[in-house]
Amino acid sequence: MELFIITGTSRGIGLAFAERALRQKDTVVFGIARTNSSINPNFNFLKTDLVAEQQVNEIRFPIDEGFTKIVLVNNAGMLGDVKHLGEMENQSIAKTIAVNLTAPTLLLNRFLHFYASSKAQKIVINISSGAGRRAIPSWSVYCATKAALDMVSETAQQEQIEKGTNTRIFSVAPGVVDTAMQEEIRSVEQANFSQVNRFHELKKKGELASTEKVAENLFQLATHPEKFSEVILDIRTF
Ligand SMILES: NC(=O)c1ccc[n+]([C@@H]2O[C@H](COP(=O)([O-])OP(=O)(O)OC[C@H]3O[C@@H](n4cnc5c(N)ncnc54)[C@H](OP(=O)(O)O)[C@@H]3O)[C@@H](O)[C@H]2O)c1
Repeated sequence: MELFIITGTSRGIGLAFAERALRQKDTVVFGIARTNSSINPNFNFLKTDLVAEQQVNEIRFPIDEGFTKIVLVNNAGMLGDVKHLGEMENQSIAKTIAVNLTAPTLLLNRFLHFYASSKAQKIVINISSGAGRRAIPSWSVYCATKAALDMVSETAQQEQIEKGTNTRIFSVAPGVVDTAMQEEIRSVEQANFSQVNRFHELKKKGELASTEKVAENLFQLATHPEKFSEVILDIRTF
């Protein structure tokens, strides 16, 4: 039996990945979000607001009863205010950092501790972004959280190597994917986001990746981690 713990399973990439994982036999998924998607009898929902640190700390990971593989996918994320620094609400900055960086780091920390003695193959996939690898005006907090997630992942992987475990940790940019987050990006006025037309063009030309394609690539990573030597990955190069 394989266990997948996935955040952000109510829609978009997280939902497609949960559905892909559940197409495999002998698989159980624990989905974490604010909204339940109840997709399959092997889908267990843990209602959690990842902004609330106490709720994140109250998440109970399933006991390992002989799983062959345990995968944590830190997928939930938010764009936050699309504005220049100096024009943003402090509360919104803190919320975006909580969902995109604090929650995945807390979950990664607890995951590594909780399953430390498990014999299962352990894999962590953090969903990062190309925006963490180049500055995009009006996305400062989003860019910063994704850059930090890349570094948390690289450091955690080096620590696992020092410990002599074979736990694999990845930080994956999924490309530009046709989800609600892209709709949100396109809905911003140009006055607040100088690059918004690029995103309208990508949509118009049909250049957004489907969630199913991205989920399939992520599933291949979880199935064959040995084919990937780097921590920081971009799905467009798979
Ligand atoms: N779409 C793209 O082009 C793109 C590009 C690069 C990176 N990414 C990254 O890919 C990941 C998935 O994005 P997506 O496009 O699939 O986004 P999406 O369609 O907006 O879905 C976001 C998911 O995150 C969950 N979430 C958001 N805030 C939450 C909170 N406070 N507590 C719990 N869950 C929360 C949502 O669930 P609830 O609302 O039900 O809580 C939802 O399931 C994100 O990390 C995003 O940064 C996306």
